[in-house]
Amino acid sequence: MTVLIKNGTIITATDEFKGDILVKDGKIDKIGANLDDVAEMTIDASGKYVFPGGIDQHTHFNFTFGESTCVGWESSDAAVVSGTTTVIDFANQKVGWSVKDSVDEYLEEKVVDKACCDYGFHGVVFDPNDALFKEIERLPEYGIPTIKLFMAYKGHPYHCDDDSVLKALQASTDAGVTIMVHAENADMIDVLQKQTVNKGITGPIGHAISRPPVVEAEAVHRAAYLANLADAPIYIVHVTAKEAMRIIREEYAKGTNIFGETCTHYLTTTVDKLDLPDFEGAKYVCSPALRTQDHLDELWIALKKGWLNAISSDHVGFNWAVHKHAGKDSFVNIPNGAPGLENRIPIIWTEGVAKGRISKQKFVELCCTNPAKINGLYPQKGTLAVGSDADIVIFDPDYRGIVTNENSLHRVDFSSYEGWEQIGRAEKVLLRGELVAENGKYLGKPGSGKFVAGKPFGLCYDLR
Ligand code: URP
Ligand code: ZN
Ligand code: ZN
Repeated sequence: MTVLIKNGTIITATDEFKGDILVKDGKIDKIGANLDDVAEMTIDASGKYVFPGGIDQHTHFNFTFGESTCVGWESSDAAVVSGTTTVIDFANQKVGWSVKDSVDEYLEEKVVDKACCDYGFHGVVFDPNDALFKEIERLPEYGIPTIKLFMAYKGHPYHCDDDSVLKALQASTDAGVTIMVHAENADMIDVLQKQTVNKGITGPIGHAISRPPVVEAEAVHRAAYLANLADAPIYIVHVTAKEAMRIIREEYAKGTNIFGETCTHYLTTTVDKLDLPDFEGAKYVCSPALRTQDHLDELWIALKKGWLNAISSDHVGFNWAVHKHAGKDSFVNIPNGAPGLENRIPIIWTEGVAKGRISKQKFVELCCTNPAKINGLYPQKGTLAVGSDADIVIFDPDYRGIVTNENSLHRVDFSSYEGWEQIGRAEKVLLRGELVAENGKYLGKPGSGKFVAGKPFGLCYDLR
């Protein structure tokens, strides 16, 4: 299949120019002015931006919290329609299993027939034993160069202590594996949760009260010390607090190989949402907790300055009516996480680019290019270059709409952005040269998404 995209304004992490793109056999074959090749499909992109397909490197299609299990890969069309063509999902190690066997089973049972976008995985440690630390060295052989440990969530099966984080970091460094951590102090949270409940605060706002910024900042600092001790790079997922971000900035300046991302909701939604009446606040229970506006403002600056390196969704599809209500009597039991896969590209464009907080190039860097680099997928993914996969978004900046859950595809019973104005949208989306979405409609075939193997040493790229 050949596709010629004519007259668009091409945006990459570094450039902006008017030009045409020729796609052949799923790859970008030519980029230039006035291409006159004959193609099977020609798309007129006049007045549109053309940028690389988004990469969401932080989704949970298979997360459990207590008894609750979230919506899975059947909702991955929601990524595609919004302009995300690759997702890196967290694949849980099963207790007593290797990461490889756990991922293979997950792939076969829950992913292969359903994936609408291309995908990769981060392992998630559930069973930190010697076999696991040994296996970390082999993860790149499976195309999985990243693995996550949860420093938070005491009492949940995925919680890891410092000894596990340290051993994982030690195992990672020669293999070029990137250790990712959910950095929150689990013991501080445990104490504060009990004290908050004992004071009679049991509603969703108790979640934020028991997870103040210091809980995150302490764990980020500890993670930096552990990484230094192991002489390994470290990646902090979902940074929310300005204090935590400042530690990353300062540690990096001192020479620590530390990097971090933030997420759509931590840039756009404030903690007061947790105080909404009628248990509506439960929709906004995610960890770390939402923060006050001063944190949001500082995170935008951090992105602009390169102190944080990517924007992810941290998408978790827990329904409000059933799953979130597991915590009706105590916030401690509200499943953590919020949907956002479908909103990341449009909301970051609206709140970031259209409102002048970041440039179009920065948008591409944070939502497409850096996630590709971090996960060892660059330049196959994450950019528009000759030879790269033809994952391409043709974006209409003049579109105006209102986000509603009714018009969402994510199969969750609420949207965190209900009623928000949306500026711009993915008018057409190509995945490896196939037109898979148009004006919010998914046109592809579930199961057509492919696994993309990540190369090791992702964090060796220059992200700042
Ligand atoms: O609240 C969140 N973020 N839930 C998903 C799991 C995690 O902590 O990343
Ligand atoms: Zn997390
Ligand atoms: Zn997460």
